[in-house]
Amino acid sequence: MVSYTVSHQLSSDLGLVIVPIAGAKALESALNLLESESGVSRDFISKDFSGEKGSHLVLYAGKRRLMLLGLGENPSFATTLRVFRQVAHKMKKRLSPNLGISFLYQNEVEGFEETLNAVISGLLLGTYQIGRYKTEEKETHPLLEDNASIHFVLEPEWHQNGEKAIAEGLATVETQLRIIDLVNAPSNKKTPQAIANWALESSERYGYKARVFDKPMIEDKGLHALLAVNRGSEFPPRFVMAEYGAEYEHTIGLVGKGVTFDSGGLSLKPSANMHYMKSDMGGAAAVLGTIELVAKLKLPIHLVVAVPLTDNSIGSMAIKPSDVIDSYSGKSIEIIDTDAEGRLILADGLSYVLKNYKPEILIDLATLTGSTVRTFGYQAAGLFTNHDVLAKQLNDIGEEIGERVWRLPIWEEYLDDMKSDVADIKNFSGRPIAGAITAAKFLEFFTESHPAWAHLDIAGVAFGDSEFSIQKSATGYGVRLLTQFIQKEIEVKSVTSSASMQG
Ligand code: BES
Ligand code: ZN
Ligand code: ZN
Repeated sequence: MVSYTVSHQLSSDLGLVIVPIAGAKALESALNLLESESGVSRDFISKDFSGEKGSHLVLYAGKRRLMLLGLGENPSFATTLRVFRQVAHKMKKRLSPNLGISFLYQNEVEGFEETLNAVISGLLLGTYQIGRYKTEEKETHPLLEDNASIHFVLEPEWHQNGEKAIAEGLATVETQLRIIDLVNAPSNKKTPQAIANWALESSERYGYKARVFDKPMIEDKGLHALLAVNRGSEFPPRFVMAEYGAEYEHTIGLVGKGVTFDSGGLSLKPSANMHYMKSDMGGAAAVLGTIELVAKLKLPIHLVVAVPLTDNSIGSMAIKPSDVIDSYSGKSIEIIDTDAEGRLILADGLSYVLKNYKPEILIDLATLTGSTVRTFGYQAAGLFTNHDVLAKQLNDIGEEIGERVWRLPIWEEYLDDMKSDVADIKNFSGRPIAGAITAAKFLEFFTESHPAWAHLDIAGVAFGDSEFSIQKSATGYGVRLLTQFIQKEIEVKSVTSSASMQG
C-alpha cells in the first residue's frame, strides 16, 4: 500500500498538489494565499472556480501544479470520500505517485480528522481495478506504484490527530479493497473453502483467531439448516468462527450470510441477472472485513464472527419445497421456497453464536431479499431491531459515512405469515408482500428474544453501479459502518448500558 507523510510545508518535488476547497466561503478565505502562490489574480480564480462539489481548476505556480478541488459547502464524510474517489479514478492520468494534499489554504479546523480519513479512503478506493482476470497487462495506477507516496500538508497543531486519522483511513480502505475483491470474485473462484482460507490467512496476518468447521464437524455440531441448503451442491459447506479480543469484557457477535452463489435451488431464479448472485456472500465479506479491521486497529472489544458458507445449487440431493428440515436451535423448518436459503443458514449462525458466546449485541448482515431492493433501491440497507438506541447509532453513523440504513418495523403480527401447519416455522410466507420484514421475523425467531439484536438486509447496497465497472460491482458496504459502530460503543457504551426497547 501507498505510504504517506504529514508535514507543514509543501516540498518542491511534488508532481501534483490537490487543494480541497469546501464551497464558496472556503474559496474566499483561500484566495489571497492562492493569488500570491500562483501569481494568478483572485478575480480570475474565482471566475473559473467556485468550490462546487466535484469541480476543479489547475493552477501552475512556478514549478508547482496545484489542483483546486471543490467539495461543496459543509461536505459530509461521504461527499469528501466520493469526490476523491472520482478524482483518483477519472483523473488517474493527471495524478502522480508523488502527490500532495494541502490543507494550508483552509482555516476550518472542526472535523478535519474525518476529512483526512475520507481523503485517503477516497483516493485509494479510486485505484480499484476490476479487471482481475484480464490476460493483458494493465497500466498501474500512479498511487499503486512501488514508490507512491501521499504528502499531507497541514498546520503543525493538526499533525498528531491528523496522522492517526490518516492511518485509520488507510487501514480501513485496505480492508475494504480486499472485501470488494472477494465480493467481485466469480463464484467458481470463491468456494466455501476459498473464503474460509481467506479468513484463515487474514487471522494469521492481523492477529485474531479463526476456526473453520468442515462438513463432518458441521454434521457433528448439528448445523442442520446449513447442511440442508448445501445438499444440492458440488462443494461441501464450511462454517467460519472467528474471534478477537477474548480478554475484553464486552462481547459483540456478528453473523454474515455466505452464499457463494444463489441459483435459487429447485425454486430456480430467472436467468436474467442471475450472475449477480455471486455477490450473495456480501454479508459474510462485511463481517470478515470488520473483524480484520477491528484486529488491525486493536480495538478493546471481544468480537465474535460467524460465517456459514455454501452455494445454493440444484442436484438430485437438493432440498425440495415441502421438505421439513432441522436446525442447530432444534426448531423445525418447513421449506416453502428453496430460494429463501439465506435465512436458513443465518438461523444456524445466529443460534450458534447465541448459545456459545452469549454476546451483548448481536448483528447480522445479509443480502437477504429482493424486497429490500424494491423498497430502497441502492440507497439504504433495511434495518430491523427492537432496540431503539442500537437503531439510532447505526442510523447516525450510516448517514455520516454514506452507508445508510433505514429502519422497518417487525411487529408481531408479521410472524403470523410465517406460521407453518407442519413445522415450527416456514421459510417463506407464500405471499408477495412484506418480504424483507417477514424474512427478518424468520431470523428473529432464532434469536431467543435477544434484546440487542439487529438485522441489516444489504441486498441493495452490497452490490451496485460504480464508476469502475459497466456491470454492477461490489461496494464494500458494512466494514466501515460496523467498525465505527463498535468504536462508538466502546467509547460511550450506549447500547450495552441501555435497555431501550420497543414493543
Ligand atoms: N439472495 C437473494 C436475495 C437478493 C435478491 C439479493 C436480489 C440481492 C439482490 C435471496 O436468497 C432470495 O432469493 N430471496 C428471495 C426470497 C423469497 C423466495 C422468499 C427473494 O427476495 O425473492
Ligand atoms: Zn435465494
Ligand atoms: Zn440468497
